[in-house]
Amino acid sequence: MLVDLNLVDAKVMHEGEIVEVGISIDEGRIIKIGKIPSLPKASQTMDLQGKLALPGLIDMHVHLRDLGLAYKEDFKTGTFAAIAGGFTTVFDMPNTKPPTTSTVRLLEKIERAKGQIAANVGFYAAFPEKLKEIANMAKWAFAFKVYLPNSITELDVRDDEVLRGAFRRVDAEDRFVIVHAEDALRIEELRRRYGRRPDIEAYLKVYDSTVEGKAVKRIVSIAEGVGARAHIAHVTTREALRTLSEAKEKLPITCEATPHHLLLTENDLRKVGGFALTRPPLRPVEDVRELWRALGEGLIDVIASDHAPHTLAEKLGEDVWKIEPGIPNLETTLPLMLTKVREGYLSLWRLVEVLAKKPASILKLKRKGDLARGFDADITVVDLKSKFLIDSSAFWSKAKYSPFDGAEVSGRVAKVLIAGELAFDDGEAVAKPGSARVLTPN
Ligand code: NCD
Ligand code: ZN
Repeated sequence: MLVDLNLVDAKVMHEGEIVEVGISIDEGRIIKIGKIPSLPKASQTMDLQGKLALPGLIDMHVHLRDLGLAYKEDFKTGTFAAIAGGFTTVFDMPNTKPPTTSTVRLLEKIERAKGQIAANVGFYAAFPEKLKEIANMAKWAFAFKVYLPNSITELDVRDDEVLRGAFRRVDAEDRFVIVHAEDALRIEELRRRYGRRPDIEAYLKVYDSTVEGKAVKRIVSIAEGVGARAHIAHVTTREALRTLSEAKEKLPITCEATPHHLLLTENDLRKVGGFALTRPPLRPVEDVRELWRALGEGLIDVIASDHAPHTLAEKLGEDVWKIEPGIPNLETTLPLMLTKVREGYLSLWRLVEVLAKKPASILKLKRKGDLARGFDADITVVDLKSKFLIDSSAFWSKAKYSPFDGAEVSGRVAKVLIAGELAFDDGEAVAKPGSARVLTPN
């Protein structure tokens, strides 16, 4: 019997070592990893020329936009950017136009995505107006996202009791809540004090570390009261890390960091301006150092891109309050992080953990996040030696800007396979729009 495909002359990580192997794939799954002579015969062979095969990377925080915001990004451009960046599966945020606050709106997105996507996509929802609808939405939504600062739901998320009720419903469906943790009241207070000035210094004062610290404390106390799972998006401060470190002793709470908060500081925001503007903002170097420590220690569970594309016009201008926050990161995350691996900031092993294994476990994706027998043949092949300069004008994303423009990185995406099919090959997209799957939970 012939299997579909053998990948030969591959390297994979095995128990902390890099070993030379072949990978046999049949019907979209990995059926064997082993020395070449031990593999079954295949109808097709692909030579990886000694490059490193990683489990297909999973990005659990992406804004694919589409619908009313398709001028910023759509399902097609966003997922082509994903595969170009080595991500085989991405999770889409609900702060769209319209926001994803009902079953109907979730299904509308899913239907639209189906014919367009080149990477697998799972969807998140926002809380519906009537909490009992959460039970139905949970059939399609992997998690429920709450924006504490600028709420996108009808619910008053400033009210602890309302939030507790929502957490309870989500937990009852065995889903979890993802939190954009910036405290609305604290922002208002600081904005009254500093918000009249239109410059970056004022912005940094308004979205300071107490804004995040207060929100994380509040969420920890609500999640603890309810006994629910929560995930804090883009953690940036020492204060938040301290709270999370204590909370993790008693709660199933997880968190993520972004590449920009790990690699840039508030001084880069001062230098670069709008293209480096994001929420929460970039932080002082003391916070960045703690983020790295937390990443090494495992306090930070996941690296997520928070790919947040906007148009150039939305990113430029003199008045900081009129600039849209967000950085497109799908195509920079992997090369930037591989460069840090090369520089000794973290191990390759740990990188795969935060970019594949841990997101798969948080999202309960049974056959993703690892290269092993029985797993989906979603594979990201990287050339660790290839050096290049980040060039946002060549992005597949519609958002052609980056605070990382011109940075030298080493580690290029060589090939991407999704369910055993070649999707991206040496700079060229091979996947057809609609070739990947919309994922649903369980
Ligand atoms: C996000 C976006 O543009 O959708 N922007 C950002 O700066 N992270 C929204 C958000 O998470 O606030
Ligand atoms: Zn956010």
